[in-house]
Amino acid sequence: MLISTINHVVFRRLLLTWYKSHQRCLPWRITKDPYKIWLSEIILQQTRVMQGLPYYERFVAQYPSVAALAGAKEEEILRLWQGLGYYSRARNLHQCAQTIVAQYNGDFPTSYHALLTLKGIGPYTAAAIAAFAFKEVVAAVDGNVYRVLARIFGLTYDVGTSKGRKQMHQFATLLVDHMQPDTYSQAIMDFGALQCTPVSPFCTTCVFNNYCIAYATDSQKTLPVKTNKLNKKDRYFDYFILQHKDAIYMKKRVKSDIWKGMYDFYLLENKQHLVVDQMDDPLFILARSYHLPITTFEKEERHLLTHQRLFVKFHKIDLTVAFLQEAKQLFHQFSLVPFNRREIEALPKPILIQRFLKKVDLS
Ligand code: ADE
Repeated sequence: MLISTINHVVFRRLLLTWYKSHQRCLPWRITKDPYKIWLSEIILQQTRVMQGLPYYERFVAQYPSVAALAGAKEEEILRLWQGLGYYSRARNLHQCAQTIVAQYNGDFPTSYHALLTLKGIGPYTAAAIAAFAFKEVVAAVDGNVYRVLARIFGLTYDVGTSKGRKQMHQFATLLVDHMQPDTYSQAIMDFGALQCTPVSPFCTTCVFNNYCIAYATDSQKTLPVKTNKLNKKDRYFDYFILQHKDAIYMKKRVKSDIWKGMYDFYLLENKQHLVVDQMDDPLFILARSYHLPITTFEKEERHLLTHQRLFVKFHKIDLTVAFLQEAKQLFHQFSLVPFNRREIEALPKPILIQRFLKKVDLS
């Protein structure tokens, strides 16, 4: 590994000087309130700053304090989170707020180690809150930081492995500015987001270009090193929109699987898509006996999650009163509940479902 000649003092000075003239003015930077900082960091783990901003504003407006968030209904929080994905983060947000109210009298713990014990707060978030709100000298190391350090210092630690991430974390810790750990962390994040971008970084105007190993060796594209061992699991979903007049039957997902706590349609999952005429599910045997036609939407939707690839087909069945009377017991067993359009709008739904409802004008 070729090591940069830049020393830590010069690195900090150049970075902080760059930040003075390039920093973005963001609402979570003009506060020392750990609640707001925490909210912003959890949202920003899911999305970029510009997309995250309106979510942040809505959360702060609806839940101005950790107590307000703790007292909210989980469904309401999931609805507000809708579109960000990774819904366990929203559920953890709620649980964490409740713990802070119940065990800490509504005040966030003030140290990195205490923050780390809370639900949904990992090393990155704990460090970000501790540094930004309490000026603790800790390194908040995210993807931006990996990229900046790997390139400038020529680090070839594999951030796809826990060993590589640990090495990177140790390296990053040595660099933190002891006088202003809060500004330093914001600066390195902005530097990664604005100057040392993942694709086409702005090297010719970069304050580090006299020192940067990636620039000198033209290896911006290969740094940081990240082997990808992630094998995505393929899943085949067949969704059934069971409709009667203005109502659609939906169910809350309660198992510990993707989208827990959110609402979707009646779902059958198999190793392949279903052949509609051959379905032996009791609901369809009954539907056939009532000669209810099943309309299948031709297009298969693909939906990518972090660890899964979903292949989704939608089918629609218009129900009759007679069928519904007969199927009452089954619907109850399957926890299928009728909702009208207005009610559906207020339910937390996976974005896949939301988009489908919009596309077929059912929302
Ligand atoms: N990404 C994660 N945390 C951030 C922050 N505090 N400011 C800007 N971008 C970020």
